[in-house]
Amino acid sequence: MKIVALVGSIRHASYNQKLAEFVQKRYSDQFDMTIPALRELPFYDQDIELEAPQTVTALKKAVMQADGVIFVTPEYNHSIPGVLENAIDWLSRVEHPLKGKPVMILGATMGPLGTVRAQGTLRQILDSPGVAARVLPGNEYLMGAVQNKFDNAGQLTDQASIDWLDHCMKNYLSFAQALATEK
Ligand SMILES: Cc1cc2nc3c(=O)[nH]c(=O)nc-3n(C[C@H](O)[C@H](O)[C@H](O)COP(=O)(O)O)c2cc1C
Repeated sequence: MKIVALVGSIRHASYNQKLAEFVQKRYSDQFDMTIPALRELPFYDQDIELEAPQTVTALKKAVMQADGVIFVTPEYNHSIPGVLENAIDWLSRVEHPLKGKPVMILGATMGPLGTVRAQGTLRQILDSPGVAARVLPGNEYLMGAVQNKFDNAGQLTDQASIDWLDHCMKNYLSFAQALATEK
């Protein structure tokens, strides 16, 4: 199974990037996960969408070929970071690579609410006609106080967070399989 992870933070020490890498390693016996570098994408521009740059076409191809997409994002100003919105804007056009794709949302923040507002907004965006992804219902992976949950080496060490991740991931993989058999 192939999964693409779209990470909403491009900073070097990003907790969300670390969370994505944790997922990549922990479930490597269940899927191959790639994490495209969203910092390479230009701003979405309708004037060039039909002859988009190689970074955009590579991202679209990766998502089209994937069995599922996992978003891993911080919250910025009660919404999703521009870098993620920009990637989704590219992915919402021409080929619509996210259409019907099984999606899971993970979010980590230093604040207490664990990206709950960003995740609500992201669900709304993913339901728009150009995107039309299939988002795992009934599961919210909200990680607050993230700075207390990773050790100095960047490893997720908080057992409750790991257990909840296992629970949500099991549900996501069943959901993705059920959608695949619908086709
Ligand atoms: C521009 C900006 C806006 C932010 N707004 C919020 C917010 O609305 N809610 C929240 O919980 N955290 C907010 N934060 C804190 C980030 O969620 C926190 O810095 C997080 O660790 C960033 O994710 P990263 O470690 O993956 O880069 C904001 C941070 C920045 C830089």
